[in-house]
Amino acid sequence: MALVLALESSCDDSAAALVSSSRQILAQAVVNQNDAHRPFGGIVPEIAARAHVEILPGLVRQVLHEADVSIGEVDAIAATAGPGLIGGVMVGLLVGKGLALSAGKPLIAVNHLEGHALSPRLVDVGLDFPYLLLLASGGHCQLLEVRGVGDYRRLATTIDDAAGEAFDKAAKLLGLGFPGGPAIEALARDGDSAAVPLPRPLVGSKEPHFSFAGLKAAVQRAVIAGSHRPEDVAASFQQAVVDCFLDRTAKALEQSDASTLVVAGGVAANASVRTALADLAQRHGRGFSVPPGWLCTDNAAMIGWAGAERLAAGLTDGFDAPARARWPL
Ligand code: KG4
Ligand code: ZN
Repeated sequence: MALVLALESSCDDSAAALVSSSRQILAQAVVNQNDAHRPFGGIVPEIAARAHVEILPGLVRQVLHEADVSIGEVDAIAATAGPGLIGGVMVGLLVGKGLALSAGKPLIAVNHLEGHALSPRLVDVGLDFPYLLLLASGGHCQLLEVRGVGDYRRLATTIDDAAGEAFDKAAKLLGLGFPGGPAIEALARDGDSAAVPLPRPLVGSKEPHFSFAGLKAAVQRAVIAGSHRPEDVAASFQQAVVDCFLDRTAKALEQSDASTLVVAGGVAANASVRTALADLAQRHGRGFSVPPGWLCTDNAAMIGWAGAERLAAGLTDGFDAPARARWPL
């Protein structure tokens, strides 16, 4: 059994975790910086980077202490090396390099998207490769065939906004707090999802790509018109995103014979998204897997698990591993 100490700092969550190759999370901690960014209505990259500098080292001490493990007992250090806000990525990667250097441990520079992509396997012992993954987060919206560790076939991506970004923008238009996803989901519970006519961009098109910019613009028009209840706008918007997910994922299922459909990334924390995609998988005779909500939004346990999977495959990195703002899987 290998023990991996992991760091995540690619966006506005500072996180550390201690994960074993036998799927145990010995300790984990996430500090979200929402309060620091809220006054600006969105994430300010430099504030995020500075906050990681202040928060991350304490989280490393905290998880080691909670698990009663010394750094000498750890087998590898995993740190997110991108993609993400480059200042934060640099902070976390450098903390990881420092730990690995001083403790004489191998470094694993993890792609954040691979963290999301492999996260379901941390909690779902029976989830084998290949699986079809809908990865919907604040920065990405992709359909990937996950064939193995480091082996991904991208079937589709977004031609404009990411799904989580659409939730955040719709929430801002409605004057809701940040991050927008949970706020929209909560408001939508009291709304009528058929009340506001909104577009479903790219639905019916041949390739399974996504587009959300037109949906955001339509939400903006509806809000400015002022003739709908905010609850109805939220519910109708959420339904439109779900409908796009269903149509696009159904298209991708035609292009993949993977036996299981998986959803991951922050937007997969949304209950309507989870239920709708579980139904879709069932209708197509595929298995379904989705991580618990806390594992969908950014965390270091998924980075530790991706690190454990990479370590088992002999994939470690040199101390010259770069920090990358962009890093497609
Ligand atoms: O994966 P994640 O934590 O960070 C990135 O890698 O981007 O995803 C964050 C995104 C945000 O846009 C947030 O609004 C969205 O996921 N999100 C949700 C929910 N929880 C988080 N969207 C819809 N419903 C939710 N419950
Ligand atoms: Zn993420």
